[in-house]
Amino acid sequence: MRSSSSLLAAAGVSCIASGASGGVQLVNDTNCDCFLTNGSEPTYFTKHMFFDFRSLSQYAGVPNIITDENRTSMAQPSSDYFSSQKWTDVWELQSWSNNNGDGQGLSGDATVLMVNSANNVYIEKNGDGNAATSDTFMTMRTMRLPTFQTAAEFQAHDSNYQFLSLRILARTVGDTGAVSAVFTYRNAEELADIQEADIEILTRGPRDKVQYTNQPSYTEHGGQGNNPRAARNATMPRGLEWMNWAVHRMDWTPKCSVWYVDGEEVASIDFQVPRDASGININSWSDGGNWSGNMSVGGEAKLQIQWIEMVYNTTDKNVQSQDGNIGEDDGDSDHLGPRGRLARRDGNRNCRAVCSIDETTETGIASKLWEGAAPRLSAGGQMARLWASAFGMSIWVLVRCAI
Ligand SMILES: *[C@@H]1O[C@H](CO)[C@@H](O)[C@H](O)[C@H]1NC(C)=O
Ligand SMILES: *[C@@H]1O[C@H](CO)[C@@H](O)[C@H](O)[C@H]1NC(C)=O
Ligand SMILES: *[C@@H]1O[C@H](CO)[C@@H](O)[C@H](O)[C@H]1NC(C)=O
Ligand SMILES: *[C@@H]1O[C@H](CO)[C@@H](O)[C@H](O)[C@H]1NC(C)=O
Ligand SMILES: *[C@@H]1O[C@H](CO)[C@@H](O)[C@H](O)[C@H]1NC(C)=O
Ligand SMILES: *[C@@H]1O[C@H](CO)[C@@H](O)[C@H](O)[C@H]1NC(C)=O
Ligand SMILES: *[C@@H]1O[C@H](CO)[C@@H](O)[C@H](O)[C@H]1NC(C)=O
Repeated sequence: MRSSSSLLAAAGVSCIASGASGGVQLVNDTNCDCFLTNGSEPTYFTKHMFFDFRSLSQYAGVPNIITDENRTSMAQPSSDYFSSQKWTDVWELQSWSNNNGDGQGLSGDATVLMVNSANNVYIEKNGDGNAATSDTFMTMRTMRLPTFQTAAEFQAHDSNYQFLSLRILARTVGDTGAVSAVFTYRNAEELADIQEADIEILTRGPRDKVQYTNQPSYTEHGGQGNNPRAARNATMPRGLEWMNWAVHRMDWTPKCSVWYVDGEEVASIDFQVPRDASGININSWSDGGNWSGNMSVGGEAKLQIQWIEMVYNTTDKNVQSQDGNIGEDDGDSDHLGPRGRLARRDGNRNCRAVCSIDETTETGIASKLWEGAAPRLSAGGQMARLWASAFGMSIWVLVRCAI
């Protein structure tokens, strides 16, 4: 270590490289200028969020199904958790239906009326007994009733996400005919212009398969016929099935979308990668169409989530930056408020403190990789490739800092 320190000193940078000594330095996000992901497409992001549903027993309770299609769309949140600011600042429960109204029938190739309800998103006690890995989790329920399919969805309040690495610890349980999905979404008039990167689990399909897509993979008139360039039908690693808890990860980067299950890459698509700022949706649904298939009346499926974690960038400038030293501010600062103006003043210090949500010992809390002279972030790919290689942290830090 002595030689590396002097090397670093000689290079004129100060590296607090926890990895170099094999330890992990957990830090508050306010101590991170950016977050670097691991995997085959390492990427820098400036923001981090974590939603933890594992210890929310004060909110736990399974709401009764509302069997009236009109009443269910007006349901209130199932518990105060979903009215809390922590939740509503980022997410919005959905209550739309696939009924186009005015006798225009159902959307797409649906054969069943589907109605989203806040009543189907709730905190549930983990009933796995001794095998339980949490006290509680969030459940998103979809059930086939005699006259309609009741379903669950929430989406990001904002549609200004532009590139992200999103991870959820989740499982899907229940009957055939449902889809559990996590996706970015940018709407457009024409189907061909929609931009979307998806994770989808089909309960009608084999239990070790997950569908990954950069949409659209089908056309308005050409039916379902998945475009093989846009979609992958991947196998979960190590014999995992989707009813097992696993970390499902989607990295949407400028070059490609890459998907991982429990840290293992399972798919990568560089065709039709979403380009523009997008929203984020998570849902559990069925509409009797060709993709979800039909659920039998009385059938039910659930997407259950212990936590959601994401590192990401947004297109708004500075407004939410942690301590105001990230981002090129080339705009008018007048609308930015005090934080924004501060950010403008400190404008171009770039990313000094680099953190990781991968190299951590506690899910949801970042660790500091290093702090030092600002690397040029755009050159990150080159250095970060070392990360992905077999050399490991200490050598990587040495090389980076010694440059
Ligand atoms: C991180 O630091 C901020 C500002 O000092 C503080 O408000 C916040 O509670 C800290 N977060 C955690 C998880 O300690
Ligand atoms: C990322 O790092 C974590 C922690 O070291 C590891 O478990 C995971 O497999 C890594 N993922 C990839 C894709 O390298
Ligand atoms: C729900 O509302 C629609 C439109 O007002 C109405 O046609 C339908 O009968 C209602 N359904 C039920 C179950 O009341
Ligand atoms: C759905 O599947 C049926 C039967 O396989 C087929 O006839 C129909 O064209 C498909 N519809 C769409 C919209 O893909
Ligand atoms: C995925 O592949 C499996 C066979 O390996 C097949 O049974 C399943 O229908 C495929 N799913 C889709 C959506 O194509
Ligand atoms: C679902 O069931 C309806 C009839 O209830 C039928 O018209 C439709 O083709 C079925 N869809 C699929 C994908 O099997
Ligand atoms: C995220 O924002 C930082 C700061 O502007 C930038 O350096 C980085 O390249 C961005 N990441 C992506 C994937 O665009």
